[in-house]
Amino acid sequence: MDLGLKGKSVLVSAASKGLGKATALEYAREGAIVTIASRNFEQLQQTAEEIKRITGQAVTCAEMDITRAEDVENAVSTAVSAGGGLDVLVYNAGGPPAGMFDQFDDAQWQKAFELNLLSAVRMIRASLPHMRAKGAGRIITLTSSSIKQPINGLILSNTIRTGVYGLTKSLAAELANDQILVNTVAPGRIETDRILELDAFSANRQGISVEELQSQSFRQIPVGRYGTPEEFARAVVFLGSFANTYITGQALLVDGGMVKGL
Ligand SMILES: NC(=O)c1ccc[n+]([C@@H]2O[C@H](COP(=O)([O-])OP(=O)(O)OC[C@H]3O[C@@H](n4cnc5c(N)ncnc54)[C@H](OP(=O)(O)O)[C@@H]3O)[C@@H](O)[C@H]2O)c1
Repeated sequence: MDLGLKGKSVLVSAASKGLGKATALEYAREGAIVTIASRNFEQLQQTAEEIKRITGQAVTCAEMDITRAEDVENAVSTAVSAGGGLDVLVYNAGGPPAGMFDQFDDAQWQKAFELNLLSAVRMIRASLPHMRAKGAGRIITLTSSSIKQPINGLILSNTIRTGVYGLTKSLAAELANDQILVNTVAPGRIETDRILELDAFSANRQGISVEELQSQSFRQIPVGRYGTPEEFARAVVFLGSFANTYITGQALLVDGGMVKGL
């Protein structure tokens, strides 16, 4: 199948490591002109070099704290200059802290809103004029399986990511006439630094070892293991490609069957 991504301009945010990095790599493998953005410029450059080594595609880096409006504008402009416009936006951000309801005050809720929802609004707002200028576009938001089934101990994520799904679904309807398809891809448990940190947090909270916690986790996943970032990225790249011409407003869970609801 031709994904129609050769020469397309793709911006992946929060892509210095983890799911964003894996996604950027898969787009580069498809011949896209990829820009990656996050806070740690040194790490971004290492990632860009690694992707170039693997795929032969040069990758552009933009230093961006996604909570800063001017950084977001700058990252989009960088992608537009590098790729001659913008065809695909993969919106991703770092996760909010783990914790229960009683642990968070207004300031922490506000911070999570800015990191995980307002940043999506800003990235999409900055990207849209460029997609409209091209007459088509694809937007993927990265959320979490918590949009279908809340996860214990992740109250901020559970609450805010459903807002991103609401935004995604609403935009799918608003932007269909512009030939812009908008979907969310929701990871279950994909092996990245973030998941290892959350496992350490939960193990500590339950007073058990990380190994014990993970073997309990694996038992909740019909496939019997965590996913790999590459497995996740392949799903993003299909939905966020020009081979996808009719799927919009959907949430695709990449979770090895973990979420049990219909
Ligand atoms: N892995 C999973 O199974 C899973 C499951 C559910 C949800 N998620 C969510 O998916 C997202 C990605 O997860 P991951 O596992 O790939 O995490 P990760 O390995 O910790 O990577 C997080 C990425 O976000 C970037 N980042 C963090 N804060 C940022 C900011 N303020 N501005 C710009 N970039 C920022 C980091 O780069 P810099 O440090 O360079 O800024 C890094 O590249 C997170 O929101 C996570 O909560 C992941």
